Amino acid sequence: MPINPEIKIGILTVSDRVHQGKYEDLSGPAIIDLVRTYLESPWTPLCKVTPDAQGQIRDTLIEMIDLEGCCFVITTGGTGPTKRDVTPEATQAVCDKILPGFGEQMRNVSLKHVPTAILSRQTAGIRGTSLILNLPGNPRAIKECLPVILGAAVACIELIGGPSLKCNPEVITVNHPKH
Ligand code: MTE
Repeated sequence: MPINPEIKIGILTVSDRVHQGKYEDLSGPAIIDLVRTYLESPWTPLCKVTPDAQGQIRDTLIEMIDLEGCCFVITTGGTGPTKRDVTPEATQAVCDKILPGFGEQMRNVSLKHVPTAILSRQTAGIRGTSLILNLPGNPRAIKECLPVILGAAVACIELIGGPSLKCNPEVITVNHPKH
């Protein structure tokens, strides 16, 4: 398989406590491990941490996509109902289109694991030719959510003009829409 150094995936941990150094970032590494398991295409992670501040989340998303060229940015944290939870708002602010189906599907599956899944306002959207996806902050939630929608994310990235990401067919089914 040819090495494509251009495929960059952004992983943005949104957490006041991780940003202040009070907590170790467990969520960002959990996302990298999972994506490594599921994607066969070579890719490079670009990891960043912001506090739960809408302006900083928004600016970092723009930087990861417009300057760094990430075709896919996965955020973790800040999707809940509290005052400081603003990741979905920052996501919506930088997206041209929102894809509510991702949040609906993740909540649907998550509710089979925990009743509190209803509290996550996680969403997804398109900025240019890149996809932004919100995940909750809990590493267990990441394991419950990401595998469920990764195939759809890969199909979406291709449809919006991003790269074709090859998935491990033993663990992920990609339903490529007919052109
Ligand atoms: N989804 C899954 N699959 N598993 C979980 O443990 N936790 C929920 C919810 N979604 C959870 C989940 C809880 S307790 C909250 S408060 C919300 O995600 C928001 O989490 P966040 O603010 O860290 O993003």
